[in-house]
Amino acid sequence: MSDGKLSHLVSCSQFRSASQLSGLFRLADQFRGHARPSRRNRYTPLQSARGRILATLFYEPSTRTRLSFESAQIRLGGEVLSTEAAGAFSSHAKGESLEDTIRVVSSYADAIVLRHPTPGAAARAAAVSSVPVINGGDGDNEHPTQALLDVYTIRCEVGIAEGLTVALVGDLKHSRTIHSLIGLLLLYPGVRLVLVSPDGLRLPEQCSRAISAAGAEVWCEDSLTGAVARRPDVVYMTRLQRERHEHGATTLEAWPDFCLNASHMKSLRDDAIVLHPLPRLAEVPAELDSDPRCAYFHQSAYGVAVRMAVLSSLYFGEPGADLGL
Ligand code: NCD
Repeated sequence: MSDGKLSHLVSCSQFRSASQLSGLFRLADQFRGHARPSRRNRYTPLQSARGRILATLFYEPSTRTRLSFESAQIRLGGEVLSTEAAGAFSSHAKGESLEDTIRVVSSYADAIVLRHPTPGAAARAAAVSSVPVINGGDGDNEHPTQALLDVYTIRCEVGIAEGLTVALVGDLKHSRTIHSLIGLLLLYPGVRLVLVSPDGLRLPEQCSRAISAAGAEVWCEDSLTGAVARRPDVVYMTRLQRERHEHGATTLEAWPDFCLNASHMKSLRDDAIVLHPLPRLAEVPAELDSDPRCAYFHQSAYGVAVRMAVLSSLYFGEPGADLGL
């Protein structure tokens, strides 16, 4: 860290301004050579992370977050220690506390990416770690690096102009990617939000308060049809987070109102995009994938460059290094 101070990335509330994000995004641009995601991307490291070790400690399933962090670290020239089912294969299974595990792992690695089912786990880890901790998702709380790559995708695919309108659709209550994304979107002046969810799955109070405090324009809709009529630039879809519902899987008769179909796509603006943090289930049928507005696979591909920028900022203090703590 440039100022010698240890930084962690635990919450999007650490980011104070859109210009702070711009620094990080310019770095991500450099890593991917300004190209749209493609197999030809070369991800040139600006500084080598040779000799640095990233530990990925995942207590919940993951495809994109863990593998794209590992890819980012390797592309930067560094190496990876990984435990993909830490609940079963780490000393957690013997009753070790998260704090003790982090104390130990932080003496083996130069940074830790942690995914954990308990809200607040990343902050607890950061409090005892001697190396930077990156929150790879803590229960239904936050997922800041997903939000960074979501905003980066919006910037690359449609641009972020005053009045950008983003429809957030689905399980707003439990979706940590949406909670973090709201935190970043509110840094952009004039952003408008359309909140689209069934009654029982509305945003947590804390997120609603943040929206009010920022004075952002906001509409609530109880179907995708209503949301599309608001002419959004971005439709951000999420799955039902069944594993986080209190009494097991919720059966929602109204759920089809929150699943995208060909008729919504017909009404959607030609220059809009559809995003999804993935995995997608029935809410975005595979038949829609060939529509060029469906940008979710670009979105996941951008994750490597964005995570290279995050790691590089933590290691070398590149632009965007001031992650706020
Ligand atoms: C998300 C997550 O884990 O919160 N996935 C991801 O990291 N890309 C979304 C989800 O699981 O629904």
